[in-house]
This record gives sequence, C-alpha cells and structure tokens, in this order.
Amino acid sequence: MNIRIERTAVPKAKPDTNDLPFGVLFTDHMFLMNYDKGEGWHDPRIVPYAPFTLEPAAMVLHYAQEIFEGLKAYRTAEGKVQLFRPMDNIRRMNDSAERLCVPKIPEDVFMQALLTLVELEQDWVPSAEGTSLYIRPFAIATDPHVGVHAAHHYLFSIITCPVGSYYKEGINPVRILIESQDIRAVRGGTGYTKCGGNYAASLRAGEKAEELGFSQVLWLDGVHKKYIEEVGSMNVMFKINGKIVTPSLVSGSVLPGVTRRSCIQLLKDWGYEIEERDISVDELIHAAETGELEEAWGTGTAAVVSPMGEIAYEGESHVICGGKIGPVTQKLYDTLTGIQWGKIPDPYGWVVPVC
Ligand code: COI
Repeated sequence: MNIRIERTAVPKAKPDTNDLPFGVLFTDHMFLMNYDKGEGWHDPRIVPYAPFTLEPAAMVLHYAQEIFEGLKAYRTAEGKVQLFRPMDNIRRMNDSAERLCVPKIPEDVFMQALLTLVELEQDWVPSAEGTSLYIRPFAIATDPHVGVHAAHHYLFSIITCPVGSYYKEGINPVRILIESQDIRAVRGGTGYTKCGGNYAASLRAGEKAEELGFSQVLWLDGVHKKYIEEVGSMNVMFKINGKIVTPSLVSGSVLPGVTRRSCIQLLKDWGYEIEERDISVDELIHAAETGELEEAWGTGTAAVVSPMGEIAYEGESHVICGGKIGPVTQKLYDTLTGIQWGKIPDPYGWVVPVC
C-alpha cells in the first residue's frame, strides 16, 4: 500500500531530552487511515500532527469502541533507530480489534505505517539514557450515530512522543496498593485487550491510591476478589522461595504483555522455574510476612521492568527486598533494556531496525 506523506511546514522545536516527561510532547507528524464498510481500510497517509475533526455523535465518544497499543523506538549508541517486537503489538491490536468488533488492520500495512512514520520522525528519537520514542497506534469508531451496534466507519492513527521514564521513581521501587473494592476486568470481558474502557474503569481506584501516596493499584480478579491479576500499566511477577510466579493469562482478564513474554523467555533461559498460575492475595501477603517473597516487579512497555518496594493490602503495608531493587529485577532490566537499546546482542530476533 502506498502511504502518502504530507510534511509539516513548521517543524516543532525539539525538547530537552535530559528531562523528558512521559506522554506530554508529540512529534511533527501522525499516521492516519480510514475504514468504510464495503471499502475496507484505505487512504493511508502521514500528515502534520493536528487535532481531529469528529462529529459530537461519533460512536467512540458514547460507546467507547476504541483500541490501542503501545511500543517504543530506541536510539542505539551508533545512532541507529530500532523497534522492539513490533509484530507482537500488531497481533495484539488485532486481537483487541476482534473483541471490540473493530475491523482488523492488515499486518503488512500496519508494519509499513510504523516503519515509515518512525523513519520520518527519526530526529525525534532521543538518545539520553533511558529515553525512547513512545508509539501509540489506536483505532476509533467515527460513525455519527446514537444507538449501540458495531460502527461502519473507523479511523486508525499512530502518534509518537519522546519519553523518559513512566514512573517519577524511574528504576527505583514503586509503592503499590492492592485494591479490594473496585475491579478492573472480569473473565468474559475485555481485560486481555488494550481498550480505553479498561483504563477508564481503573481511574477511581488509581486516584484513591495516589492520594494515599501509592504509584499504582494492583488488581484482584473480578469473580473471587482473591487472585492477583495485574497493575493496569504493567503485568506483575514475584520471586517466591527462588521460583518466579506470575498470574496466568487463562482468565482472559490479564493483558498478554509483550514485556511479560520477553521476561519469561529470559528467565527460562537463565534456568529459573516459572509458574504461570493463580496467586491468591493471601499467598502473596503470607510470603511477604515470612520473607519468602524475595522480589516483586512489574513489566510493561511504558514501565519497562519496575521493582515494587512495598505492597499494601487492607491497611497493612509490607516492604519487599528491603525497599530496594532485587538482583533478578535488576538483571531483567539490564538485559531487556540492553537488547532494546542495542547495547547487548539480541539472540532472539526481537529487534527490528528502522533506519
Ligand atoms: C504501555 O505500557 O505501553 C501502556 O500502554 C500502558 C499505559 C498505561 C501507558
């Protein structure tokens, strides 16, 4: 498919990359493509980054028919730009599309859009330590219609923003609150997808946690309110008695994270025993109390590998690993970021060069 490119006449000034906030600054261009029933996806184009025009009745605004992804472009020491496992994001976006009744985006067009946009925006890929270009593909239902059914018209877009670390703590341990009232997702629902509604449902608990000084909420399952699921911005992993334990994906209410998958592969290759299974909050708290919980961390594209230094549940707080980053967490962080930034070889073929 031929992507039409319209370059901006007024490029923006580049930010100071030593102090980049997350998700606030956007680059000069964006990718757009439309879908109309009967015609399919058409008119792929890159245009100057600018506001969209949407009908107030656009269905996404009323029924939340929206899906998205998150991946990053990294600047290597040689000045090259590369992506990390982009096909995994493309496939997951199409899994989300299937669940939300959004027409799937052809994989080859999606990949071409990513590569073309990132190459055009290559000067925006920062080189300061820990920085990258965050890439946000998303698709929305645009039909002006009040009435609930799958839309017939969609807009697919990709925007990009240079970012520093997602948490203000950086690689330092974050404080996590286990939520026992609200739930994020339930089996049969949309928990395994990346759709805006999952995040909207998480806001109330997130605000409450923030007021109490926590970075994020750790969700329990929606059926028993007993089993650990995920943090919302990241999957979670625990080292308990030498074994790595992480919630399994079978409930369908946990996001199949690309960083999660990559960490599992690394840990297996390092000889760790990995259990993907249900972990009850009681088991976790017991392990924290007895000292068997050696390390805990989250994994996500935005969050990378983020140590959890403290978990709180029903008024009791538990410090993990002395509130410091543990050796396995550090090794995962160093290896994963080493591969992503091209500092160490990539034996897995995860990295895709752009330019
Ligand atoms: C990501 O990790 O890329 C996400 O989409 C999570 C979001 C909360 C920034």
